[in-house]
Amino acid sequence: MVSNILITGANGQLGSELKFLLRRENRTTAFKSANLFYTDQEELDITDLKAVESFVKTNSISIIINCAAYTAVDRAEDEPELCEKVNSLAPRNLAKAAKDSEALLIHISTDYVFDGNGPLPYKESDTREPKSVYGVTKAKGEDAVIKLADRYIIIRTSWLYSKYGNNFVKTISKLSCEKPSLTVVFDQIGTPTHATDLAEAIIEICSQYITKIEKKSQAQFPYGVYHYSNEGVCSWYDFALDIAANSCNECKVLPVTSEKFPTKAKRPPYSVMDKSKIKKSFAITIPHWRESLKHYFNSIEINNY
Ligand SMILES: NC(=O)c1ccc[n+]([C@@H]2O[C@H](COP(=O)([O-])OP(=O)(O)OC[C@H]3O[C@@H](n4cnc5c(N)ncnc54)[C@H](OP(=O)(O)O)[C@@H]3O)[C@@H](O)[C@H]2O)c1
Repeated sequence: MVSNILITGANGQLGSELKFLLRRENRTTAFKSANLFYTDQEELDITDLKAVESFVKTNSISIIINCAAYTAVDRAEDEPELCEKVNSLAPRNLAKAAKDSEALLIHISTDYVFDGNGPLPYKESDTREPKSVYGVTKAKGEDAVIKLADRYIIIRTSWLYSKYGNNFVKTISKLSCEKPSLTVVFDQIGTPTHATDLAEAIIEICSQYITKIEKKSQAQFPYGVYHYSNEGVCSWYDFALDIAANSCNECKVLPVTSEKFPTKAKRPPYSVMDKSKIKKSFAITIPHWRESLKHYFNSIEINNY
């Protein structure tokens, strides 16, 4: 049985990582027999329900991996309608299409659904209390998927970076080579996620799903909400220190409070997520953020990015 897999937002950070990994030759057996459809806004605007339904039906899609989103957190405060369309309405469209085709929907969400006032790593079942337009719209997207899709995996992630697109790692790496000093907030705590690691985890989940379908296994697949970031905890300041050390290493990185760095959107001050559930359910091992950052710098050197 052949699996037809749709990857939306394929030109974004996570979508590009998935594309890169899935195009490598020696993919797992499960993926060898899969047809992969990579789309971004130009090929398939996921805010268009008719287009989504038609694409999924015509191509007999059995797995949808939604990497598309409106991710400009500060700009979202000025563009709430557009943000809502992409982050809330589009997941609803995908969930509807997935249900009609009995497809699995893997949808990506965010630590910004939490207010960040908790003292302990967030569990999947903890109360969501988003404080920004981005966070509110992503929470609504989760609700739509949970309500409408029969087969879904929602993965909340945080502080995503990749060799593709723009992100904190690239910005600090560049600035640390241009400036004698940098100030970075030390009172926002979380965990970075290397998109390669998240993409590997998604591939593993898909492989387990494909194997289950191919073997016609009656075992219940562990659908539901999960957390995924790298292991460990740090502030943006700690993260920046390591990025600078891996870059030019001549720049002084100085800690400042968020008060000195006002942003349009409110950020959760503490958004560490508990990843026990995903590790146990899918037997996934997660690397520490420092190890993954090293891999990132090695990979951009090798690939000349
Ligand atoms: N980046 C982070 O730090 C972070 C943190 C936590 C969670 N997440 C979540 O992780 C997921 C992946 O994030 P990412 O950083 O890889 O995102 P990204 O780099 O911003 O990529 C998102 C992609 O979605 C596309 N897109 C936007 N509107 C669309 C539409 N209507 N139809 C189809 N495609 C559309 C974008 O195209 P255009 O560029 O043309 O708009 C872009 O290629 C998202 O769900 C995000 O919310 C990200």
